[in-house]
Parts: sequence; structure tokens; C-alpha cells
Amino acid sequence: MTRVLVVGSGLAGLLAAVRATDAGHRVTLVTKAALSDSNTRYAQGGIAAALFPDDSVDAHILDTLRAGAGLCDPAAVRVLCEEGPARVRDLIRFGVDFDRDESGITRGLEAAHSRSRVLHAGGDATGFAIEAALVATVQERANRAHALGGDQITIHEHTMLVDLTVDDGRVTGAVLLGPDDTRHTVTADTVILATGGAGALYRHTTNPAIATGDGVAAAWRAGAAIADVEFYQFHPTALAVPGTPLISEAVRGEGAVLLSSTGERFMTAIHPDAELAPRDIVARSIAAQMKAQGGAPVLLDATGLGRDLLESRFPTITAACRANGLDWAVEPIPVAPAAHYWMGGVATDGWGRTSLPGLYAVGEAARTGAHGANRLASNSLLEAAVFADRAVRSLSEAEQPAPYFATETDADSDAGITGFPGAGLDDPSDAADAADAAVTASAPGLVDRGTLQNLLWEAAGVHRSGADLTGAAATLAGWHPVDRALATAAQLETGNLLDLGRLIVAAALAREESRGAHHRADFPDTRLELARPRFTVRPDTRTL
Ligand code: SIN
Repeated sequence: MTRVLVVGSGLAGLLAAVRATDAGHRVTLVTKAALSDSNTRYAQGGIAAALFPDDSVDAHILDTLRAGAGLCDPAAVRVLCEEGPARVRDLIRFGVDFDRDESGITRGLEAAHSRSRVLHAGGDATGFAIEAALVATVQERANRAHALGGDQITIHEHTMLVDLTVDDGRVTGAVLLGPDDTRHTVTADTVILATGGAGALYRHTTNPAIATGDGVAAAWRAGAAIADVEFYQFHPTALAVPGTPLISEAVRGEGAVLLSSTGERFMTAIHPDAELAPRDIVARSIAAQMKAQGGAPVLLDATGLGRDLLESRFPTITAACRANGLDWAVEPIPVAPAAHYWMGGVATDGWGRTSLPGLYAVGEAARTGAHGANRLASNSLLEAAVFADRAVRSLSEAEQPAPYFATETDADSDAGITGFPGAGLDDPSDAADAADAAVTASAPGLVDRGTLQNLLWEAAGVHRSGADLTGAAATLAGWHPVDRALATAAQLETGNLLDLGRLIVAAALAREESRGAHHRADFPDTRLELARPRFTVRPDTRTL
């Protein structure tokens, strides 16, 4: 029996925990907030899969590769699209009640999909429905184990990953910060990171505040290879109000259009697919339009869809509008781009395995290669389900394929981060700073989360340039986090964001081209010779 530590409780973590329990492994599931708090919960549009007679796996593969702008790993994309339908059927078995009409499961259209293939639940509450079904499943497994006097699966909420433990190049467990603010070291044969993305790096994000990239940062510090971190996807349409709630792409899929502040439709002049052009193009076009109109948000006009459809198909968005005093059935609503999804993360092979033995990564924390430079809408829940399932299957399989990234690692690719200051983690002087930080948040050089978010938004957001990135790198180099040995949960998160911000800026500087979600004013063209992922390993821990 393998002892498996699963960190995170979105779709990927919950599914991995259920699968591992069912496969007979002993599972410890930890999550830093409540079990149902995750990015999954906020997913609206749905989950894409080639499940319908007018669709095909090959069509889904082609759409995914096109959106990925030449940077997808074709093998990962094939796995995603081939195994996706079976994983969606699994979710139905776990109790996810996808929306239906008299002809069966209904489906939506989203940008850059050649077919309507996006399943949804509760109208626009797909993530909520998936999260609820999997939380119930995991709790049922835990209750059953408890009733039988076993500990096949134990769940620890409000428990944060501090760092991974590594012995002789192998991950052996993790240091955790519990709800009582004490640290515990947990040993495990396998650690599965399912900690999600890092939307909290940016001033505007559709992610909940808990999305601080804890797992990717810990994996990086432990010496795991990370990849494609320069590719952060900005959703074109978040409601331009505090909290920036997501306005699903499915709204545009149903026919809503984007208008300038003076009421003109502008996407028709930019792309033949207008509002349903690939996500990166729409986000950049909105940002440019906003700049041209002095920073004011653009408008999303969904009034043509009618109140009945808006309220039944999009109840979550209707409620968000209402909470902000907007009635989107009668007036266009203000929208703007916001950080949404990280294509980069801990590099994994097709089985969720990272470059460190004993460490797996699944869901948004992983860079599987399925998304390339720009994820296709509604492929993220699918990726989480497909690769969480494969990760657990590979735990039990004697014969495992070699990690494919090992042969693709660009030995020189970390040139941009040589001299990376390692976040000062080993600097004993930080301990004193940490003590001071407990009483003053303005110690010289101490990273401040809000300032970091503004810096990343301005320099490494929708539009980038070498000059802005160089300036940001210099600023980031001058900041330091609170010593992790003394830090509170919030300070640990901010330290993680600092590590990741440095990595994103360094990788964005090193990629001297524009591709997918990464757009540089000083290198506006895509360069064929750079059509390869950028793998990075901390120089002092290189294991590949
Ligand atoms: C949306 O509903 O627009 C988000 C879907 C996604 O990010 O895949």
C-alpha cells in the first residue's frame, strides 16, 4: 500500500484522492481552506469533450492545438481529447448533473471551438456542481473508512503546504501549517500537488484569493522542473467591479457582443470570428480598446439574448450583476480582462509525474503540455480530470514510461534566471526581518502583496515589453519575503507569489517573441524557432 499525500481540493485533488482511495492506497488529503474552496468551484462555462455525434476526438485535438499557438505537446493533447469523454462519464457517475433538454445533455459553444462541445451544469455553475459532487464522494469515502475503523483516507482542512521535503533527490513528504498555526511534517511515498494556479499574482483576477500558486512555488524550491510559466491566460471578460467576477465566454457563445464605451462593435474589424476569436486575441483587443478610450472598461451587450435565457442559462452571472446594481437584460455591462488561468506550472509527463521522484502534479499546478501558449476554453476541468486519473493509475502500474520532458529540457533555458536570488530563503538575516514583519508590514524591501500584484499587472500582464519586464525584474530582485520558518499563512502565500512573480518575469523576458497569451510590444511576431516549451530548473538543484 502506498501512502499518498494529496495537496489541494479542486477537481484534480478530489478526483486523485477518490481514485487513490479506491485503488487501495492510504490517502491524506490536505487543503488550505475548506474542502469545497477551490478555483474549480468558480468555473462557469463548463467542460469540453467530444461526446456528440457531430464531433470527433480529432476535431477537438485540432482546436486545442490551434489555440495552443504551436506550443502544445501533441501527445498530451491526444491523451486529453481521447480520454476526456470517459472522464466526463466518470463525473456523471460521481453525481454531476449536467444540464439536459429533451434531446439529452445540452452543450455550449465557446471561443475557438469548431463545434459546440462544452457541457455545463446549473447553467453557469458547472464548477460548483463538479466540486459539490466530488466533495460528497470524498467525504463518503472518509466516513466509510472511519466507520470501519480504518484510516484509508483522512482529510485535513485549513492546512497549508509550507514546503516539500526531499531526501536524496526524492520527495518524501511535506511540511504543513495546520489550523492551529503549528507545523507538521508528513511523510508519504508519493505527493500529488493539486494546488491550482496563481491568479493572486495579478491586480485583477477571476480566481479566488486562495490561488497563490503554493504547490508550484514549493516544487520549484524543491528542485522540480517547471515550464511555460510565461504563459498566463487573461480572460477577456470579467465584470469591471471589485472582485472581478467572471462573465463566461459562453455568453458570447450565445451571441452577446462587445462594444466600445461609445457603443460601437469593435471585434468585427479585428478577427473573422469577432467576439469568438481565440481568448488571447479578444483579451488583447479589449485591453487596446480600453487604452484608446482612456482606461474605461468596454461593454458586453447581452440584451439581445432576452431575460429568460440570461436568467436560466446564466444564473450565477445574473446574480453577480444584480449584486452590483446591474440588470444585464436591459443594459450592456462593463467588462475588462483579468488573470484567469496559468498554462505553465510544474512540468509533468503524460502520467502526472514531475522531474522529482515521488512528486506528481495535476490540474492547473501542472504543465502537462496540453494547453501550449493559450488554453482552449473549457479544457481546464477536462485536463484536471484526465491527468489526475492517469496520475493515480500510474501509481499502481509497474511499467511506467520515461518522463518525456526529460529529453526535451532545454539545458540553457534557465539562462534568464541565472543568479536568481532564491527568494532569500536560506539567508539567516531574514529571520530577524520576519520578526519585525509581524509588527510592521513596511520593513524596507519586504514584499507587499498589493504592490507585487500591481507590478505584475503592469509589466507581465496582457501587454508586455522588454523594458517593463527588465524594470520589474530589478524591482522584484530588491524585495524579500518573510522567512518561511516564521511566516504566517498569509506571509507564506506572499513569499510564494514573489518566487513565482520572479519566475514569470524572467521567463517572459527570455521569450523574445509574441505567442498565444504572451505578447511583447518589442517582439510582436511569433518566431518559428522558438516553438518549444521553456523548461526551468533551479540552478542549484538541477536534477535533469
Ligand atoms: C468561461 O466560462 O468563460 C471560462 C471557461 C474556461 O476558462 O475554460
